[in-house]
Amino acid sequence: MSVIRALFSRLENARPLDPVAEAIAGAVHSTIPNARIADLLHGRWLGHPVHPILVQVPVGAWISASALDFTPGGRNASRRLIALGLLTAPAAMAAGFADWADLEPDQRRVGLVHAAANTVGVTLYAASWSARKNGHQVKGAGLALLGLAAVGLGGALGGHLAYSQAGGVNHAEGAMRRAGDRWIDLGPLSDFPIGEPVRREVGDTTVVVYRRANGDGVHVLASECSHVGGPLHEGGVTDGPGEPRITCPWHGSVFRLVDGEPLRGPATACQPVFRTEIAAGRLRARAFAEGSVWKNAEV
Ligand code: FES
Repeated sequence: MSVIRALFSRLENARPLDPVAEAIAGAVHSTIPNARIADLLHGRWLGHPVHPILVQVPVGAWISASALDFTPGGRNASRRLIALGLLTAPAAMAAGFADWADLEPDQRRVGLVHAAANTVGVTLYAASWSARKNGHQVKGAGLALLGLAAVGLGGALGGHLAYSQAGGVNHAEGAMRRAGDRWIDLGPLSDFPIGEPVRREVGDTTVVVYRRANGDGVHVLASECSHVGGPLHEGGVTDGPGEPRITCPWHGSVFRLVDGEPLRGPATACQPVFRTEIAAGRLRARAFAEGSVWKNAEV
């Protein structure tokens, strides 16, 4: 195991961080005023997490500022870029905290140190801006380099959280691929209770099957929640007038059963939906591939 991998692994298992993480996550949840603001911060409206997009602005500004510090005549532009980073960092941090508060404990530990490193970075950039404003250009440039190092460490931890620990990725992405492009028999329709989500397997994919009370409508979705992989088949379904929807038991994401659209976060990605057909009283389901692209069923 590489040194970096070993260090990150120790951090993932640093349970003493949990009480702090739990307290901050609770504060984040109670600070976000309602689900609409939470969804805005998660990026449900965009269909993609907004935190990794927002961080580009301050990080890009600060890297450019340090480059300009070593460029003749670049001082004023450098100071403005540092101010731009300081003005835009709070939005990125708010989105990051909203996402982080709904992660699993090992992910939260890494995310907590990621946030701490970035907070140190922001503080150093604030000090850098202040030093420059008071005419201490060299000190300001030095503080900016320290800030860049802190933000760089934060970025490395954020990358580990996203790529190695799969925090923020679409956990349902492989469901269609694992199911394969073929019809799979799920058994007699009469075996499925009406109005109650049940678990079944389509190929190597676990799915949730929901048989509607009004007529013969049956919905089949990948059960592994796109957010962090929670078991949707253990969730509750709201049915009745309008579109039925299922709520993930882990963090409360709500998906429309008919097309998998997330109606409430923290999930931002659609839940894969399978085609269904009833033949000779038996229910069959199939993932849908068009060319090499897996798609949600057309409804
Ligand atoms: S796993 Fe988090 S909302 Fe489903």
